[in-house]
Amino acid sequence: MLKSFTRRNFLKAVTATAVGTWFLNTFPALAEASSNEIQYVRQIITKNISKSRTIMWQTAKPHPEARLHYRLENGPATSIQPVMEEFVDDNHTTFIYSVSLDELKRGESYQYKITCNTSETPWYSLTTPHENDSFTALIFPDSQCSDGYITWRNVAHNAYRQHPNANFMVSMGDLVDNGEASWQWTQWQDGINELWKAIPFAPVMGNHETYNLNWLCRLPKAYLALFNLPDNQSQNFKDYYYSYDVGPVHFTVLNTMWDELHGLNDGIITEQIEWLKKDISHTDKKWKVVLMHKDVIFYDDPDALRSPAYPKNNPVIGTPYENTDELPETTSLIDIDEVGRIFMPHFDKLKIDAVLTAHQHTYRRHNHIYDFKPSKDKGPVYFCTGIAGNVRYNVAFTRRFDQKFIAQPETENYMTLTADDEKLLFRCYLTNGKMVDEYILEK
Ligand SMILES: [Fe+2]
Ligand SMILES: [Fe+2]
Repeated sequence: MLKSFTRRNFLKAVTATAVGTWFLNTFPALAEASSNEIQYVRQIITKNISKSRTIMWQTAKPHPEARLHYRLENGPATSIQPVMEEFVDDNHTTFIYSVSLDELKRGESYQYKITCNTSETPWYSLTTPHENDSFTALIFPDSQCSDGYITWRNVAHNAYRQHPNANFMVSMGDLVDNGEASWQWTQWQDGINELWKAIPFAPVMGNHETYNLNWLCRLPKAYLALFNLPDNQSQNFKDYYYSYDVGPVHFTVLNTMWDELHGLNDGIITEQIEWLKKDISHTDKKWKVVLMHKDVIFYDDPDALRSPAYPKNNPVIGTPYENTDELPETTSLIDIDEVGRIFMPHFDKLKIDAVLTAHQHTYRRHNHIYDFKPSKDKGPVYFCTGIAGNVRYNVAFTRRFDQKFIAQPETENYMTLTADDEKLLFRCYLTNGKMVDEYILEK
């Protein structure tokens, strides 16, 4: 039984499925044309994108003769045979290919293309930064959609258009609404298809990646098949959590799905905590950032919205909710949730600088939290990154932990993180390019 899958979410999910099916039947051309045999060519994050990259793609039929070709810009090309795996899910078969490029030179411009006996792609660009280059990352919150993933496509494309020099992109989990629905993965991939050919993609696993077509939990088969992620040395949880370096930042991606994995694949909390300590002790990067799907605050108290301390004088930041009656009835208090209780003491000890989360479908900047309490300058800075799809929840407000939130009901958003040796610069944007929050962390 899903602990966190309420009737409200179930009805929402059923509606999402129905609308999405209608959309696909009505606009089938939006799925990448099946006549193009080589589909969803993508760059996937590696432990260090200055010197390595994983390239993946898919075909509808098996092509054991397929090859990846890469070269320094306009230089002689090298050809590599990929690993090919057949993946069957939701009565849909796809062949998934993966190549690891492990010996790239830092600070170079490469090109790559894919060939098979029936088609070939153009040359695509692949750039490797220098080891400590500053960078900008695009950060996408939950992208699950009930509109054929049109909202997601719009957010992703606008973010890249507004930040064409972004070096890589992160998805914070709940990429799709239903992790077994192959048509949802197709529509989600269509939304990002031009972007991830150009810059690496780094996903975080969300709870919706673990849902089957009956809205019960299963192992996140599709997510695990689609993303060949940096090795975490785990026997039981390969690709569930991992870490990587970009410029001056060490990113640690944690998995918060122990409720969903209960009885299917147990033990992820203990294993991750041991791994997290080692992972952080092995990095010499100046900045340490954690990415995980579920937020550290439990929101379920509509009374918090009626606080007289609510800010009311800013047209963009802090506009009150209009309809508190729609909020779920509960007597719970807003406080640190189970995810926070488990991980935050370790973040405090390990001197993590920032923690990015999602899952609430709302943007909240919590600022520093230390020892479970708001702090002026101790402990990591926490951000709940917002919503990049069209599935919206009513989320209460806590003056104690929510130092900044955006107008309610909010529209879709994305974040950027720009990092150099001196600072981490976090920004939150609406899809029209309007910046609605900015936070600078220096040390
Ligand atoms: Fe979500
Ligand atoms: Fe979620």
